[in-house]
Amino acid sequence: MSKNVVYISSKELISECNRIPVIKNRASLVDSLLRSYDVLWNKLDKIQSMPCTVDDLKLFHSQTYIEYLKSQNETNDLIDDDDVTEEAIEYGLGYDCPQIDRIYDFSRVIAGGTLAAVNSILDESATIAINWCGGWHHAQRDEAGGFCYVNDIAIGIQKLRSKFQRILYLDLDVHHGDGIENAFSTTKRVITMSFHQHGSGYFPGTGGVKDCGFGPGKGYSINIPYKAYMSGTIFIKYFLKFTALVRKCYDPDMVVVQCGGDVISGDPIGQCNLTPIDMGNCLTDILSWGLPIIALGGGGYNLTNTARYWTYLTSILTGVQLSNDIPDHEYFLEYGPDYELHLKPIMVPDLNVETELDDIYKCLVDNLNQFNVKAV
Ligand code: FE2
Repeated sequence: MSKNVVYISSKELISECNRIPVIKNRASLVDSLLRSYDVLWNKLDKIQSMPCTVDDLKLFHSQTYIEYLKSQNETNDLIDDDDVTEEAIEYGLGYDCPQIDRIYDFSRVIAGGTLAAVNSILDESATIAINWCGGWHHAQRDEAGGFCYVNDIAIGIQKLRSKFQRILYLDLDVHHGDGIENAFSTTKRVITMSFHQHGSGYFPGTGGVKDCGFGPGKGYSINIPYKAYMSGTIFIKYFLKFTALVRKCYDPDMVVVQCGGDVISGDPIGQCNLTPIDMGNCLTDILSWGLPIIALGGGGYNLTNTARYWTYLTSILTGVQLSNDIPDHEYFLEYGPDYELHLKPIMVPDLNVETELDDIYKCLVDNLNQFNVKAV
């Protein structure tokens, strides 16, 4: 399959993504760093996204949630915590997902970005589509959560199902991809696989190894929980082992990968010790499968490290080599003192031990056998 890589962007998508309170201006940082590497930028096919329709939102979200977002479209930014209504809390809007101005318009633009990626795969204009403004995996059918207002991924996967029979959703964010697992926990047509930090009190608290789906989808939700300070040596070894097993059983025909940047060393919320090169090695293996891929963003609260990470992943997906020296551009000074693309891990012992990951592997093998997980 010859490779055509599209990069989804539009001024509106970037400016709306910039408004997410916890990652203000991140989308501009990412887009500017990508543009600063001419060799990369020139290789990408750029696609403008459009706001999605209400029918697109309904592919995953409930009518009542959509109506509530609509009703709040004129609410001003920055409501004090004390003024959050009970109704807003019921829909997850408050605290980590504060109501933002034009919340309905915002949701349509964010979901529209991922739908542009989906459409480019469906019409075969692309084999790889990238949307770093997408990846909001915690949003539930009728509730915002974990900085996610709209679940662009679940909406996108629903649309992909018109063409693809066996979609592998890979979630590499440091947090469990709970919204996606819940969306597809009862079907065999989508297999969800989330690698995430897990332990007492760590958000969102779900995604234990024994959580494997429901009814006809039993066995088709996969969770690989790990402990803090995950290092590249262990992660790459087990990532390759787990994904090879799932590929062999399920034979996916399409991969959607959420590449949350909070998995990278130095994130203020994630506690992993992984580098862009570690994660790039994982993505290189998935690329070698020769399947259509949609790569999405997600978390990532060290904004410049996240921009470094996604720029590097874009280079992996396009097969372009980048200089380690960050080119001069609008946000160049944010990358000091080294002004380098690559990051080094910190000196801290990895709390993960191979025997525990071997046990998780055995548990997965048992689940796959017990529930007869196979290509459908
Ligand atoms: Fe996250």
